[in-house]
Amino acid sequence: MSSDPRPMPYPHLFQPVVLSESLALPNSVVMAPLTRCFAGEGLVPTDEMASYYAKRADAGLIVSEATIISPEAQGYPDTPGIFSPEQIAGWKKVTAAVQANGGRIFNQLWHLGRVAHSHYTGTQPVAPSAIAWQGRVPRSPGLEYEMPRELSTEEVRVLVKKYAQAASNALEAGFDGVEIHGANGYLIDQFLRQQTNQRSDEYGGSLKNRARFALEVTDVVIDAVGADKVGIRLSPNAHVHLEHSPGDEDTFIYLLEELGTRGLAYVHEGAFDDHIEYDYLGGRASAFLRKHYPGNVIACGSLGFEEADAMLKNGQTDLVAIGRPFIANPDLMHKLQTGADTTVFDQDMPKHLV
Ligand SMILES: Cc1cc2nc3c(=O)[nH]c(=O)nc-3n(C[C@H](O)[C@H](O)[C@H](O)COP(=O)(O)O)c2cc1C
Repeated sequence: MSSDPRPMPYPHLFQPVVLSESLALPNSVVMAPLTRCFAGEGLVPTDEMASYYAKRADAGLIVSEATIISPEAQGYPDTPGIFSPEQIAGWKKVTAAVQANGGRIFNQLWHLGRVAHSHYTGTQPVAPSAIAWQGRVPRSPGLEYEMPRELSTEEVRVLVKKYAQAASNALEAGFDGVEIHGANGYLIDQFLRQQTNQRSDEYGGSLKNRARFALEVTDVVIDAVGADKVGIRLSPNAHVHLEHSPGDEDTFIYLLEELGTRGLAYVHEGAFDDHIEYDYLGGRASAFLRKHYPGNVIACGSLGFEEADAMLKNGQTDLVAIGRPFIANPDLMHKLQTGADTTVFDQDMPKHLV
């Protein structure tokens, strides 16, 4: 008499998901975007990066580390770009290695706005308004945030087009799609917020105007690569690099309703801790996205594996993104499948932990 096989510890993490017309995922786990600062000369992705991502190709979907769309977008050392032919060639090695191992990878498109730094770019950072963030720049000993220069209306329009070009470059580099980085207090988030956006042109003033940049970027990126290959990451919870002002939540409600008409692959929660309840969101950021966005939601932020499994089971989210455990465990999916212990992330883990 044969005994029953041991049940899978996290069955819902291993449920296949249809993300969009062009993309079916073998499981519901997304590797969250994780900046590792290990691009090479010219911000070109390296062979080491190809090996790092290829080892994690059994995630349902990998979202690459944030990738700058143009030289003036940079704020940390050695973050890769997607604007030069050399960078596209470097990424080709990464995407080919992931796909050879049966994986799928989106490129996260990034502009840091006022969080960028002249130390890296040689030029004053740009932002919706000339309002600085205070404090020391992480990963950059001795640097403090700078006063940004307000973008002219024409410059904003040019920037929108840069996202489209970056998205086309990403597809040329072999990515399966792109994720617009609208989260974590970077440029797009800075446009969405009253505190950081005090413009008087069509990109500021009213909540619709504050959402205009995010929506124009989304629309041009959709035109460039197709809505089924586009996701966006958002932080309605204002957890880093800026502060919430009363009423900002209404901008997010409007934005999510508009995004809901675009047929995107997903909306992804940009948070470090999804357990925090925000009065102005009526609870957790994942629940807020779930409530106001009709399509696929990816929850993220210090989610335990059991808890993530339960959130999928209960329909609280469509997919879950896991970040730090993927750095610490190249074989995370295998460990989750077998119930093996996982290594706990430590920020001093070497970059070449690949
Ligand atoms: C080292 C590190 C780098 C990160 N880099 C990015 C990034 O490039 N883009 C992004 O949207 N979020 C980034 N994040 C946030 C993660 O994607 C994720 O939201 C966060 O780590 C919470 O998930 P976790 O608790 O599963 O790690 C980073 C987080 C860490 C710890």
